[in-house]
Amino acid sequence: MQIREATEKDLPTIMAIELECFANDAWSEDVMFSELMAKHTFYAVVLEQEQIVGYGGLSKLPGSNQADIQTIATKPAARGQGFGRALMNALTSKAKELGATEIFLEVRADNTVAQKLYKVFGFKKIGVRKSYYQPDNVDAFVMKTQMNYSEPIVLGIESSCDETGIGIVQGNKLLANVISSSMEQHAIFGGVVPEVAARAHLEALTPVLDEALNKANISLDDIDAIAVTNGPGLAGALMVGISAAKALSVATGKPIYAVNHLVGHVAADVLANGEVVTPTIALLVSGGHTSLLLVRDLLTDVQLLGETIDDAAGEAFDKVARVLGLAYPGGPQIDRVAKDGNPTAIRFPRGLSLPKDMQEHRYDFSFSGLKTAVARYVEVLEDKGEPVPLADIAASFREAVVDVLLSKAIAACKEYKIPRLLLGGGVTANARLREAAALRCEFEEIELRIPPFDLCTDNGAMIAVLGAQLIMSGAEPSNLSFGANSTLQVTKVQS
Ligand code: KG4
Ligand code: ZN
Repeated sequence: MQIREATEKDLPTIMAIELECFANDAWSEDVMFSELMAKHTFYAVVLEQEQIVGYGGLSKLPGSNQADIQTIATKPAARGQGFGRALMNALTSKAKELGATEIFLEVRADNTVAQKLYKVFGFKKIGVRKSYYQPDNVDAFVMKTQMNYSEPIVLGIESSCDETGIGIVQGNKLLANVISSSMEQHAIFGGVVPEVAARAHLEALTPVLDEALNKANISLDDIDAIAVTNGPGLAGALMVGISAAKALSVATGKPIYAVNHLVGHVAADVLANGEVVTPTIALLVSGGHTSLLLVRDLLTDVQLLGETIDDAAGEAFDKVARVLGLAYPGGPQIDRVAKDGNPTAIRFPRGLSLPKDMQEHRYDFSFSGLKTAVARYVEVLEDKGEPVPLADIAASFREAVVDVLLSKAIAACKEYKIPRLLLGGGVTANARLREAAALRCEFEEIELRIPPFDLCTDNGAMIAVLGAQLIMSGAEPSNLSFGANSTLQVTKVQS
């Protein structure tokens, strides 16, 4: 299927369809011609295998916030295949592009199929024109839809790892943020098991959606658009959220926006602070990622400076916790035990921090060497039958992770002369990371931003608010053909 703007050359085909569809009250070729050519109109044709199978037109006067859908028709033989819907999509998008906030249309009272389609696009019946269609003497229903681009209500779906998150925002405002985590189901394995996560998403989605709508006190009808994480993350887990989002989009007719999970973490700051002040360096640390970003513009210019070349920071906490006999997830456990330890007791290695690493891996991270060093340290003591100083090991390990994370993040702030650092991801719960970040940023005169914890961990609200930013900037919805992309690049904000 293909959609394009209609041209003069399409007139004969359009007229043939017009006559086939509206035998009794078809427009004349002259009327159709002047409609097609008028400055204040926009006509589109939909094609299947290069044949025009339908057309639709919109009128929007400059200076007015109202648009009218003049006509929409698909060949009888091509009905029921989504061509009408595609045309409606094109026309409503164009209306939006032209600055309309309301769209009107008239439809035959006896054309229930068309009415149903319009309802999907948010059109509601606002009046009746008696005997409008002649000579059939059929009433016209006047329908209208209201579009909300200044503060769109967006439903965001996140399922890239083990959190099923559904968030609802209105513009930059948080309405609901509901999260169901399958973390406990992974505990016995000591890490996230993709298949288990995917199944848990499937079970959690509907109740989480219901709860989010309840909390926001709205219904699906009230939503202007749907945003969904399409990567990076676990493919099977992503697919569950994407399928749900597509199904909701198709069922409700609401536009869909496929957005980048990592950029979502950055967008969380909009909910916390009303905006993401740019440029900013962003350090995202969780069980799944460790990424250092240079964000010059949230929607158009996000650059990856570096990332982990092996374990993610949170994963390192989880693995080292296991070595130390602590429960999963390891981050909070290590934080707890480290409180009573001496962070300088053991000098654990700082991955990729040697002068030789500065060329190729200046902003990359590596935690697997550190993890091995901790394991070796414990092993040697155990072999000698000596007591293992848990608190000191935990504190020294934590110090090593925090030191590398902050050293690299602050070095990036200095190199790029950006006095701003934004943190995101579950590891931002770490007490030492927060403390050291505050101290070091203050010393370097860098503004530090850490959104509230439930916006730092994986959640749907950050996805919704990123979708809202895209809509408010005038971005077109994503094409339904997008899929899960487990290695989606951070430069691709919307797919
Ligand atoms: O962002 P998040 O909730 O989602 C996933 O990546 O799934 O991050 C979870 C990660 C886990 O690896 C966990 O051990 C780590 O964040 N984490 C912490 C702390 N709390 C959670 N790491 C260090 N210190 C903490 N206090
Ligand atoms: Zn994340």
